[in-house]
Amino acid sequence: MQETNRSKILEVKHLEKRFPIHKGLFRKIVGNVHAINDLSFFIYEGETLGLVGESGSGKTTVGRALTRLIEPSAGEIRFRLKSGDWVDDVCKVDKDVLKTLRREVQTVFQDPRSSLDPRMTVAEIIAEPLRVNSKLSTDEIMDKVREMLLLVQLDPESMSRFPHQLSGGQRQRIGIARALIIEPRLIICDEPVSALDVSVQAEIINLFIELQKSLNLTLLFIAHDLSVVEHISDRVAVMYLGRIVEVAPAEELFKSPKHPYTECLLNSIPIAAVGRKDKKRTIIKGEIADPTDIPSGCAFHPRCPYATDICKQEVPQLKEVKPAHFSACLRIDEIGLSGFDEIQMKRDALDE
Ligand SMILES: Nc1ncnc2c1ncn2[C@@H]1O[C@H](COP(=O)(O)OP(=O)(O)OP(=O)(O)O)[C@@H](O)[C@H]1O
Ligand SMILES: [Mg+2]
Repeated sequence: MQETNRSKILEVKHLEKRFPIHKGLFRKIVGNVHAINDLSFFIYEGETLGLVGESGSGKTTVGRALTRLIEPSAGEIRFRLKSGDWVDDVCKVDKDVLKTLRREVQTVFQDPRSSLDPRMTVAEIIAEPLRVNSKLSTDEIMDKVREMLLLVQLDPESMSRFPHQLSGGQRQRIGIARALIIEPRLIICDEPVSALDVSVQAEIINLFIELQKSLNLTLLFIAHDLSVVEHISDRVAVMYLGRIVEVAPAEELFKSPKHPYTECLLNSIPIAAVGRKDKKRTIIKGEIADPTDIPSGCAFHPRCPYATDICKQEVPQLKEVKPAHFSACLRIDEIGLSGFDEIQMKRDALDE
């Protein structure tokens, strides 16, 4: 893939994850869920990479595999630690290195209601990672907790409250403060705004943008809707059935998509989400295929409006089609895809 002077913090090569399906009294393996298939990508230090795809495309599995909360079936994950040293193969490291890695890579989850312990106070929740990972005194830890609350723009008064006494947006701020307290270098944000009201989503996304800049964080920002990642991402990776089908700088991906699946995702963005009244949108044809039985050739071919016979036969590889713009479509040189502006104009015309 593309090499520039920017340093990478994470590199994933040919990652695979299969979940065996067991059946019967003897739990015989009768098949596999192919959640991640030959997936490769990298993240530059200090950037936000958006990872987008429909439900079931494997986004959470990727996030969890990076710190081996799920054991990958094959492939390589490399991560550059704060010390500057590379962990060359995360899948093979010993417990101590894994512990360091898990400190430096934190996750913010989708639903703060279920990811925060309801019996703990806000202060206890935020302090916990530091209590486990440092030798600081209680006073020092509480100072850090106050600092984190200010960072996520919450009143320090909320320290003694319990999660159920907070709003959804406030709870997600607690989740973010908890992830930040041990000064991670990479934060995996797994659909951190999907469970929130639309009005609160923008607030939390803006908070991530501010934190990313002020703390020079690297973010992997997972969402199923392209409109959610548009403003926060430097680059966006689009995922379909466990593979990355397109990666490009965010603006470029919206302006000039190079994969039919991305065009479909752009087409399904509700116009209301970008501040206008809703207009006709196309919902993607059919449903995501069964990951226990991935279609031959290009896995998207049964739903692709541009597919021909070759798409049923050949597995497309991710190729650089323009500088820094990668696509895995066999027919990309023959088809013309519409960017988001053009799609909006077509929808406007349909409405008139
Ligand atoms: N522990 C597991 N055992 C078996 N199958 C699993 C397991 N975890 C995930 N899967 C399957 O792997 C596939 C990818 O799941 P994953 O949760 O990564 O998708 P996702 O893109 O995060 O979806 P969503 O947008 O709904 O969160 C799905 O088909 C899912 O059913
Ligand atoms: Mg998920």
